Amino acid sequence: MAKKIVAGNWKMNKNLQEGMELAQGLNEALAADKPNCEVIICTPFIHLAKVSEAVNHENIKVGAENCADKASGAYTGEVSAEMVKSTGCEYVILGHSERREYYNETPEILKEKVDLALANGLKILFCIGESLAQREANEQEAVCKAELEGSVFHLSAEQFANIVIAYEPIWAIGTGKTATAEQAEEIHAYIRSCVAEKYGAEVAANTSILYGGSCKASNAPELFAKPDIDGGLIGGASLKVADFKGIIDAWK
Ligand code: PGA
Repeated sequence: MAKKIVAGNWKMNKNLQEGMELAQGLNEALAADKPNCEVIICTPFIHLAKVSEAVNHENIKVGAENCADKASGAYTGEVSAEMVKSTGCEYVILGHSERREYYNETPEILKEKVDLALANGLKILFCIGESLAQREANEQEAVCKAELEGSVFHLSAEQFANIVIAYEPIWAIGTGKTATAEQAEEIHAYIRSCVAEKYGAEVAANTSILYGGSCKASNAPELFAKPDIDGGLIGGASLKVADFKGIIDAWK
């Protein structure tokens, strides 16, 4: 069975004090009312060490939103997978459409990041998903498959056990437009079939596939009720304790 997960992606929001307040608030909320799923918060680099120290890792795992495609050295401003791991965090988001689009992260670059993250013992939330134009041209399956083939399907089955897939249709991210539960389930089932084709049915059944894109407390129960949706990667609605907790509670 695939692990059920609700992950937050803070993106470039919250200064250090605000971030600590949010992490502590969530920590208290989940201490009082234990989650029925794995909860991950992915924060900007500067928050990682402090947030990781402040939260109870039984209830909250911590992740980065990115890491470098080089191991170490003269790369001013970059943060390596090893540095991320040394903060005490366990996850890293890679392949987010904002990184692909605004920072020109190609499948080859992402492949390097994936390999470095795994070599340093991080688990990966690997994002895939089509643009509106690609959806309108009915290319969503081809896009998702190519993104998997380009950056994670070179892994061994053992390595692939550390990959969580996040399907995030670009047209639904931060737009308030959610894929319908049926639309999401259709492509999630397809993505699982791609994993099955590559790694076999057992690995596919154990792979968590999250939905992301304007997921909130009001639509999470319907999305999470679908057999191939194992949780969510949450942007905007992860920035307030009550909103994020509402999504976590969709697993109750
Ligand atoms: P959103 O972002 O929930 O604000 O749409 C999701 C994401 O980009 O991970």
